[in-house]
Parts: sequence; C-alpha cells; structure tokens
Amino acid sequence: MNAVMIKLANRLKSAKPSPTLALNAKAKALAAKGADVVSFAAGEPDFDTPVHIKEAIKAALDTGFTKYTATGGIPELKAAIVDKLKVENKLDYTPEQILVSVGAKHSLYNIFQALLSPGDEVIIFSPYWVSYPDMVRLADGVPVIVETSAHNNWAPDPAQLRKALTPRTRAVILNSPSNPTGGVYSKETLLAIADAVRGHDCLLVSDDIYERLLYVEGGFHNIANVAPDLAPRTVVVNGFSKAYAMTGLRLGYAAGPKELIAGMQMVQDQSTSNATSVIQKAAVTALKGPQEPLFAMVKEYHKRRDVMADGLSRIAGVKCPRPEGAFYCFADVGELIGKTYKGQTITGSLKLSEALLEDFLLAAVPGEPFGAEGYLRFSFATSQAIIEKGLARLAEFTSKVS
Ligand SMILES: Cc1ncc(COP(=O)(O)O)c(C=O)c1O
Repeated sequence: MNAVMIKLANRLKSAKPSPTLALNAKAKALAAKGADVVSFAAGEPDFDTPVHIKEAIKAALDTGFTKYTATGGIPELKAAIVDKLKVENKLDYTPEQILVSVGAKHSLYNIFQALLSPGDEVIIFSPYWVSYPDMVRLADGVPVIVETSAHNNWAPDPAQLRKALTPRTRAVILNSPSNPTGGVYSKETLLAIADAVRGHDCLLVSDDIYERLLYVEGGFHNIANVAPDLAPRTVVVNGFSKAYAMTGLRLGYAAGPKELIAGMQMVQDQSTSNATSVIQKAAVTALKGPQEPLFAMVKEYHKRRDVMADGLSRIAGVKCPRPEGAFYCFADVGELIGKTYKGQTITGSLKLSEALLEDFLLAAVPGEPFGAEGYLRFSFATSQAIIEKGLARLAEFTSKVS
C-alpha cells in the first residue's frame, strides 16, 4: 500500500498534548516495568469511589438503565444539581440552565466551542490549568495570559486585568481553588475582578471543580456569590471527579445563561450526546446521599497538605507556603535553576523534573506548561508514607546539586 500523507487541521498546530498526562504516563510505564516510582504527578484522588456511589452504578445497570438519555442530562440529575447550587452555593438556576457533560473538562470545551469565533480572546490567569489555553485555541480563540505572583498569594492584579480586557474579550476564566497553585481567591480579590470586568461585555467562567477541597475557614465563594449582578453572565463549571473520587467515571456540568447552555448543548448533540447513563444515576446519589466519605477525604488531604508543604519548605532551595485548597503544592524551585547536577546545568523546571524521574524515580510536574517557570507541582493526593518517601528523594537530589 502507498503511504498516505494525512494533513491535519490547522487548528491542531497551535495545540499541544497535555504534559501532565504525558508525565503521568511515563511514570506509570516505569512503574509497570517494576520501578519503585513515587508519583506526585497525578491530578486525581487516590481514594476509591465511595461504596454507596458504586452501588448506585450497579443498581442502575441491573435495572437496565443503559440506553441513550437526553443530551443535557436526566431530569433527576439536573434537579439534583439545581438543588445543590441553591443550597450549597446560594445560586438560582432552572434545569434548562444546566448541561451535564463527560467531565468538567468537556463542559469547558463545550463553552469555548459555543462561545468563540476566530480571533476572540479569553483571559487566563497564570499559572493556569494546562488545558485552558489549548481548549481556547482549539475553538479558534486567542488565549490572553495575565500573570499572577506567589508574593500576592496568586491573586490577579485588577490593573493588569483591566489592561488585558479588549473589545474582543469574550471570557475570563477564574479557577479557585486553583490547579496548579492551590490558591483560593478572597472575597476582596473576587470583588476587584468584578469591578474590573463590569464595563466589559464578557462571560465569566468559574471553574469550581476544587470547591470542596478547602483548608481555610469561611467556606467557598465564587464571583457570582460576591457580585450577584454578574451572576447572569457567569457560567459555573463543576464535576464529580475531585470531590467524589470519580475521575474515570467522567461526569461534570455547567450552569449558566440559557443561550450559552443551549449553544453548548448543540455542540454536545453533535459530538458525544449524553454522558454515560448509569454514571448520571450515580451522580444523583453522590449529591443526595451521605457526604461523610467526602468530609473524611478532605480531612485526610488537609493533613497531607501540611506534611507535603512543610516538608518541601525544609528542603534546601525549595519554598512552599501551605496552599489553601485543591491537592497541589506549587513549590518555588527557582533557586535550583541555573545550578549544576551531574555536570549539567539545570536549565529549567522541565530538566529538573526529568532528572528527578530518571535518577530518583520521583514524578513531579514542571511549572513551565502551567505558565510558571521555576516551579514544580507536587500532588498530595497520595498517602502520607509516600509523601515522606518522595520528600526524602527530593532532598537527596538537592544535596547533589551545586
Ligand atoms: C482546574 C481543573 N478544571 C477542570 C478539570 C477537569 O476535571 P474533570 O475530570 O471533571 O474533567 C481539572 C482536572 O484536572 C482541573 O484541574
């Protein structure tokens, strides 16, 4: 057979495969060969899905709930999401303002597909979740990066945000608690963002996926809570992966303006159709059933956060204040960059993470793909014993750096 030249679409040229998934895959491949890898790379809970949620999947299967459902989700689940948003988040929606998708990632993808025309801009604060810029590019949009800094607890600077807003700005993405920083926006920060965007006709995308993983007093709040006048142009994105340890089951949702949700549904109608039927049933159980398993997981993450952040800060050349949410420590390793390891200069976080994986079987994600060179992301969604073991390996590495 003749070789065929497959010419891929231009829009793929600017997008990159997820580096966190790639690192995870490399760490898993090493582990599969028998290597004693310590991985801080995963962005997913190490806990098992709570038993009552698994039972709900089995029950749905046994009753034959295996057919197509309405694209946007079963009415029972939409109603449970409306209730959850009302009771927990003090936000009012009708079922037609909800779209259930195959994970929060899918919800975000649908948003940009439905919202953006070529050249439309989306403001993203860095460090950012790696998928945001590429999702925007895949929708022919332009990611506009606004930097934030650890010195300011990763809070966006309203003056810089104002400068970045243009008539082409169609959306601003907010992610608190944040992946990768674990940073949580204070009410004051959200109010300042609200002030900056008020004169602009843009959507606010509030990615609340880590909402339940909070280690500070005062509870969760997003921009629609602190600036209710902006609620009509906010789309809240959430899912079951992180809070309920359901990553592989793939379920998320968006709640927002009716017109946007209808547009997103059109995209979903012509791509995936509904999220998996039995997982939708399980999601109803997750929302309506006992929340104790979730509280137990959060309690354990809280302890691990202290072990990880304090342990990192004790290592020479590494700085890491305790993050307030999510399950990531985003450590400043800037002091190690430019130094020498095995006769070679450590040119950046990518080189650092390669050396750690190859020579110390320790997987940590480089900051560079998150838009923050000089940092490494350490997930503490793993046991305290493994955290201690990984920290010892990191300390050994730094002792060999000169
Ligand atoms: C900030 C952020 N948003 C969204 C997602 C997507 O989650 P899901 O598994 O629901 O697609 C992730 C997953 O890592 C994330 O870190």
